[in-house]
Amino acid sequence: MSVNSDPAPALEVDAVVLVGGQGTRLRPLTLSAPKPMLPTAGVPFLEHLLSRIREAGMTHVILGTSYKAEVFTEYFGDGSAFGLEIEYVVENEPLGTGGAIRNVAGLLRHDTAMVFNGDVLSGVDLGEIITTHRERQAEVTLHLVKVADPRAFGCVPTDADGRVTAFLEKTENPPVDQINAGCYVFNRSVLEAIPAGRVVSVERETFPGLLAAGAGVYGHVDDTYWLDLGTPAAFVKGSTDLVLGTAPTAALPGPVGAFLALDGAKIEPDAVVDGGTTLGRDVQVAGGATITGSVVFDGALIGTGARIENSIIGAGAQIGDDTVIVDAVIGDRAVIGARCELRHGARVWPDVELAEAAVRFSAEA
Ligand code: GDD
Ligand code: MG
Repeated sequence: MSVNSDPAPALEVDAVVLVGGQGTRLRPLTLSAPKPMLPTAGVPFLEHLLSRIREAGMTHVILGTSYKAEVFTEYFGDGSAFGLEIEYVVENEPLGTGGAIRNVAGLLRHDTAMVFNGDVLSGVDLGEIITTHRERQAEVTLHLVKVADPRAFGCVPTDADGRVTAFLEKTENPPVDQINAGCYVFNRSVLEAIPAGRVVSVERETFPGLLAAGAGVYGHVDDTYWLDLGTPAAFVKGSTDLVLGTAPTAALPGPVGAFLALDGAKIEPDAVVDGGTTLGRDVQVAGGATITGSVVFDGALIGTGARIENSIIGAGAQIGDDTVIVDAVIGDRAVIGARCELRHGARVWPDVELAEAAVRFSAEA
């Protein structure tokens, strides 16, 4: 990401990013890399989030890691290459979202912390959430968004003053379509009051507890871009939106456009690549292939006449001639023979080899 752009004035707020989850819903991709480190529009997803944190004027970032913690340290180091000062806290056993937040207390430098789920892409003005927090003299302020189906999220109703009235994590009958967007401003004293050294869910324990105690918990509702990249379909959408310029970032390694091709990627002249597709380093796309709205990791080979749509192709995977892959995930180094057809959320594990026409979803093999 560019470190030359002028960030906003310093905010006197520590950024805390929760990146310790296992990313189960993105398996098999998350078997080798944690979810926030998956290449998204050409760089690890977390780099996009960090670029927005820096743009907002926060420079001290603490990553709450657990699963595959070393992958973060190796890539981001002390953060100086990204215009940030990054520190790491590692949970040997995952402490849950609340436990992870409490676990960073010793590294805070300011009286206010902005906590981020590490898998959310949003266009919200982060400074405005902090302004809301200060104007309301809140103890905690939650970024809230409205979604079509709130059941997979934390449902968070507010009253006319913007005060949060309930926090209902993943409920079957959510009373409103307003949800927790996965970004919170905490007063340091509230963060320090979370019990230390044990598993705590901020969604199921901390927020309901604060509300029961009558704490000042407010919502900052926003209707700009928002997406949780936790599933393959959402991951593909987030990556393509970043490439197309629909989703905001200061870390895109190229101009916005119909596709992004990293160094060494080769596309034969009669192949079509569009819909915000990313081609990783040294990817080769053979003649007559079509790749739409997809993410192709480094070194993958796409055969003649293959068609790939809304899918993720793992690093070094090989896709055979005339093979069709729609809404599917292909693991690293998997070899898919010619004339296979994989659709509807199919997931192929790393290093698997499928023979020619071995799997199809239609009869005309
Ligand atoms: N350090 C650490 N330790 N991080 C964790 C742990 C842990 O034990 N568990 C989860 N995380 C991190 C994940 O890496 C992720 O970045 C973030 O916390 C949220 O976890 P997810 O697994 O992605 O949760 P979710 O998407 O099902 O639900 C959460 O996010 C929604 C918005 O995207 C909840 O906060 C919902 O209330 C919210 O609506
Ligand atoms: Mg999530």
